[in-house]
Amino acid sequence: MLKTNFLGLELKNPLIIAAGPWNRDGESLKRSIASGAGAVVTESIVSDALLDVRPRIACDANGAQNIRLYSDIQIESWEREMGIAKSNGGVVIASVSAHTPSELVYLASKMEKFGADAIEISVSNPMGEGLEVVASHANVVYEMTKEVVAAVKLPVMVKLSQNTTNISKVAKAVKAAGGSCVSAINAVRGILGVDIENAQPTLSTYGGISGEYIRPLGLASVATISQTVDIPICGIGGISSGRHAIEYMMMGASAVQVGTTVMLEGRKSVERMVNELEGWMDSHGYTSVEDIRGKALENLKSFDEMKIEPAVSTVKSVPCTENCDKCRVACLYGAITREADNVVVDSNKCSGCGLCTFICPAKKLKLEW
Ligand SMILES: Cc1cc2nc3c(=O)[nH]c(=O)nc-3n(C[C@H](O)[C@H](O)[C@H](O)COP(=O)(O)O)c2cc1C
Ligand code: SF4
Ligand code: SF4
Repeated sequence: MLKTNFLGLELKNPLIIAAGPWNRDGESLKRSIASGAGAVVTESIVSDALLDVRPRIACDANGAQNIRLYSDIQIESWEREMGIAKSNGGVVIASVSAHTPSELVYLASKMEKFGADAIEISVSNPMGEGLEVVASHANVVYEMTKEVVAAVKLPVMVKLSQNTTNISKVAKAVKAAGGSCVSAINAVRGILGVDIENAQPTLSTYGGISGEYIRPLGLASVATISQTVDIPICGIGGISSGRHAIEYMMMGASAVQVGTTVMLEGRKSVERMVNELEGWMDSHGYTSVEDIRGKALENLKSFDEMKIEPAVSTVKSVPCTENCDKCRVACLYGAITREADNVVVDSNKCSGCGLCTFICPAKKLKLEW
């Protein structure tokens, strides 16, 4: 049921483990393949492997910040690593990153020779300045994609950044250059927090924010690309459950990638997410992931298409004995009061904003027309 054709490759499921240090070498890639993921993406390979800074990864309850700068394994050594990674089979996508098309061509060609099944060009590093600029320049992304596509026989996916003003334009450039797919999004430039006792930012430079924090940004990027460019999309950002994967697919993604969840919960989370995805599909009568793709897009309007109308839609009073009061406190229009065992909504005051329907933990309140 979960089998899918992605990038011309047969994947056993659409859940891919994203680029990152959990896929830093042959052994870790092999473990990621064994976790049951449909495919795995190597940590980004560069021509000048850099030494790491310390500390470089921080996290809190909602996600992580990293300032990890690419693979520290030189390209020549990846021949050995790929041999180990693929010793039990599996689909390995090589992530490559560079400042010039010729460097990218060099890295991608080497990884093709070493047995990669596809290439992902990462143009979206949220840390330094150089590649961040690349991610916003459709013409540079076009040149990079075109040269790599011409140099290798493998499918080429380009990983886009949310840190750009027009993600559609960049996705269009990838398609025009012959790219097979875009993946979106990379971690988003940010600062996780500040230790105010010591006036110390969590990590001492800007970094990539990932996990829960960025899922709404990833979903919006995938939806925007789906609605404007006819190219397969791999959805990334804040996926920690099968349900999240379905959200991305309903916004138009053909497959998804997971990073922070694998980092924080371990590779066993892959099996859980795959089971959740399969369980949901089974219980909703879906027999293939293709049937989910884009399902929610027809309900996604532009703001201009939203009907602005008098407050004809209001929330109705409901019986409630919960000791919670959240709806009354949150209603900005003073429409909610409590009377004995009921939450009473004054329909003359209710403006239909919808907030109480989301805040109610018991899902008792509904907007009715
Ligand atoms: C520690 C860490 C290292 C990462 N390294 C890379 C990398 O080498 N190349 C890349 O394209 N993305 C890298 N990423 C970004 C992830 O692949 C992914 O796009 C991002 O974390 C968002 O997905 P998530 O919320 O599931 O983590 C890294 C992320 C983290 C947390
Ligand atoms: S829909 Fe908005 S205005 Fe109406 S009761 Fe709920 S919170 Fe108040
Ligand atoms: S938010 Fe929901 S559970 Fe809480 S008082 Fe209002 S109706 Fe009851």
